[in-house]
Amino acid sequence: MGSAQTPANIPLMTPYKMGKFDLSHRVVLAPLTRQRSYGNVPQPHAVLYYSQRTTKGGLLIAEATGVSDTAQGYPDTPGIWTKEQVEAWKPIVDAVHAKGGIFFCQIWHVGRVSNSGYQPNGQAPISSTDKPLTPQIRANGVDVAQFTPPRRLRTNEIPQIVNDFRLAARNAIDAGFDGIEIHGAHGYLIEQFLKDQVNDRTDKYGGSLENRCRFALEIVEAITNEIGVDRVGIRLSPFASYMESGDSNPEALGLYLAESLNKFGILYCHMVEPRMKTVGEAHETPHSLVPMRKAFKGTFIVAGGYDREDGNKAVAENRTDLVAYGRHFLANPDLPKRFELNAPLNKYNRETFYISDPHIGYTDYSFLETTV
Ligand SMILES: Cc1cc2nc3c(=O)[nH]c(=O)nc-3n(C[C@H](O)[C@H](O)[C@H](O)COP(=O)(O)O)c2cc1C
Repeated sequence: MGSAQTPANIPLMTPYKMGKFDLSHRVVLAPLTRQRSYGNVPQPHAVLYYSQRTTKGGLLIAEATGVSDTAQGYPDTPGIWTKEQVEAWKPIVDAVHAKGGIFFCQIWHVGRVSNSGYQPNGQAPISSTDKPLTPQIRANGVDVAQFTPPRRLRTNEIPQIVNDFRLAARNAIDAGFDGIEIHGAHGYLIEQFLKDQVNDRTDKYGGSLENRCRFALEIVEAITNEIGVDRVGIRLSPFASYMESGDSNPEALGLYLAESLNKFGILYCHMVEPRMKTVGEAHETPHSLVPMRKAFKGTFIVAGGYDREDGNKAVAENRTDLVAYGRHFLANPDLPKRFELNAPLNKYNRETFYISDPHIGYTDYSFLETTV
């Protein structure tokens, strides 16, 4: 028998208890925007996509899903603010559950990473600020994304946005999801409040670290009151500077958030590695998530540039509980099995990450041909 077929008891494939969820391994599907939810409604083809990536006792995080009609900034991303969207998610969630998976919905508002074409009545996108983004090349490397200068939210409008997140979380539970992940990363609305390079407010949501974190923590509070702490996670990327949202002291920001989240006792904190400062390639950095890992009392998930070897190492050295995989999981629907067997991986094709085809670059990546 070849060594590639010998199941190995590697750290990534050991069980882990995350709150009330019994995970059979540590390999998590990272949230991946796929832009195949026409008209912001999840489609039947997502049933196959997510069930392909489901294992019994495996954790999946759904693609970023809009909380309201002002939350979108890309074509055909799903939402969860209408009854139709909630109904459309149900068969997808059911398919994941039928195979024994645990499924969290990542809930999202893009803030200023949008233009008036995506907004109701062609209005300006909303943000913490009125500072516009400069046009940038989209992830497909070809199109230039044009952004409409945002409108700064008034202080008295902010509770309404917090409420949109609360309702979206409730809708996700109604759709059958096991929990939600608040998208607090990558330069979108929540980060537009968190990061001092963007947030130029002078009210109680701007200025000090405490004030910049207020919006995020109000969302956490509203959602935990609505659906319970044991179903709530959050994704953060203090070290990233996507969409012109860097911070002058990311370590202090990450630590403050980790400690504040402890007061709520939420289920997990999912952090993107400092090496993912830009979209795409990992690069050398002196920074690490270990201080946040040590500070946070719940389950810790890391993501960003991991392969089998350093995922195993991170778990073995107790630098994390779980490892989320993005591009490798996109291209390898049976990624946990491949890690277990130390089998070769399919290569991902960037060209088809964001196309709208219901099959190509989506459900056409091959499985291992194995009888094991
Ligand atoms: C096609 C694609 C879509 C993504 N969509 C999301 C998303 O919806 N939400 C999010 O938080 N991160 C998103 N990301 C970032 C991934 O979750 C992940 O953090 C990133 O790809 C780095 O991990 P990796 O090296 O394992 O791919 C996306 C990445 C890719 C490549």
